[in-house]
Amino acid sequence: MSFPGTPQGGLVKQSEVLAGLSYALDLTEGQRAGHSVRSCLIGMKLGEVFKLPSAQRSALFYALLMKDLGCSSNSARFAALFGNNDHDIKADIKNIDWTRALESFKFVLRNVAPGQFFLKRTWRLLAVMARGPEGAREVVRTRCERGADIATMLGLADESVQAIRALDEHWDGMGQPYAKKGEEIPLLARILNLAQTFEVFYTTHGVDNAYDMAAARRGTWFDPETVDALFTIRPHDPFWHQLSQNSDIQSAMRLEPEDQVITIDEDRLDLFSAAFARVIDAKSPWTFSHSNGVADTSVAIAERLGFHARQLRALRRSALLHDLGKLGVSNLILDKPEKLTSDEYKAMQKHTEYTAAILSRVPCFAPLASEAAAHHEKLDGRGYHFGLTGSQISLNTRILAVADICDALRASRPYRAGLSNDRVLEIIGREAGVALDAQVVDALRSVLLNDALEQPADVPAARIDVALEEDYKQAA
Ligand SMILES: [Fe+2]
Ligand SMILES: [Fe+2]
Repeated sequence: MSFPGTPQGGLVKQSEVLAGLSYALDLTEGQRAGHSVRSCLIGMKLGEVFKLPSAQRSALFYALLMKDLGCSSNSARFAALFGNNDHDIKADIKNIDWTRALESFKFVLRNVAPGQFFLKRTWRLLAVMARGPEGAREVVRTRCERGADIATMLGLADESVQAIRALDEHWDGMGQPYAKKGEEIPLLARILNLAQTFEVFYTTHGVDNAYDMAAARRGTWFDPETVDALFTIRPHDPFWHQLSQNSDIQSAMRLEPEDQVITIDEDRLDLFSAAFARVIDAKSPWTFSHSNGVADTSVAIAERLGFHARQLRALRRSALLHDLGKLGVSNLILDKPEKLTSDEYKAMQKHTEYTAAILSRVPCFAPLASEAAAHHEKLDGRGYHFGLTGSQISLNTRILAVADICDALRASRPYRAGLSNDRVLEIIGREAGVALDAQVVDALRSVLLNDALEQPADVPAARIDVALEEDYKQAA
């Protein structure tokens, strides 16, 4: 008997899982869906020209797919500092040469508090400029180090980890965060940098423009040899046409070196779920432990309801990934201290649709997609986004719904401190049998009254990046 979220036969290809989950990273970066996969196709083409040995091509392959693992860790900083949607800022920054002062200044002007009054924009502009190059370095360092940490957690090869850490370094030493120069930068990182930048220009401005960009930045941003390798593929090569037509998960999977194909078992799938939970939770300082909190709460409830080990495993994965779609919601909304407007609330509600869309792409997680994405559904039909009622909502989803509210109430939020267990039970208890499953709420009561859950760590200033808090104050 097989259970949702567990692979048939116990093994799946790692490439399938990571290529699928790379769409979550695209969403965080404000890039078009498939950016990481297309970067992978371009980078692997360069790896072919360099005639890299297969072990190194394997490291390159996974580094290309997972290059943006750290991307959520600076979203809150961008949004707080610029007073703008972090996805727009992140997408725009990939289109400019930020080593050029004038281009950088125009970028800042474009992105600082758009649509707000002159004084507020000027104030923000000064705040951004005051941070200067050191501020930029810090934001990139956070992203690169976090990306390298999570790549290590995924068990990627050390060469992949080092490439992800050096993703934004430039050949001329003007990159970030460590100003590495020339061959101090690992070859795989030099390929990653060219592949990802080329992909953005190719997708946004067309192939000729992308070649012009690569030529213009040869020897500054990019290793001249990687650009020369790129120019062995001509702009009219069918490869570029196919790239726009066919850049799905399967096309990426075909590029994993045949003698290096990595398969993973269920323990590693658990680990991958936990690693992506870290990507999700890094998005906002206010939910820095939410996915894990919901997973622990769900499992504790399910144990009281008599779930066995395999069912608990599938439920934990759903819980860890339930808010994957929050990577697609702006931090201006996620971190907003005041009540959301109706438009902002609608944008927030989109996160469950994104969760469903991303998990559906990953075959071994697809069976979990609807159950995880339904965690805001209510028995009385007042939930979202499927609009389910009563028996249409599975027991797993009912557990996720209760665990989600419980963790949110117990944790601090921008507008209030975390609530006591008694208060949480009082609030959730009012919905038992109406919006929430009464049996699940009873199980939660037993969990909380027996102190079976750790108290969530508070979110005091010490847990929020100190600089972020300063940004909030400056922007107030
Ligand atoms: Fe949610
Ligand atoms: Fe949640």
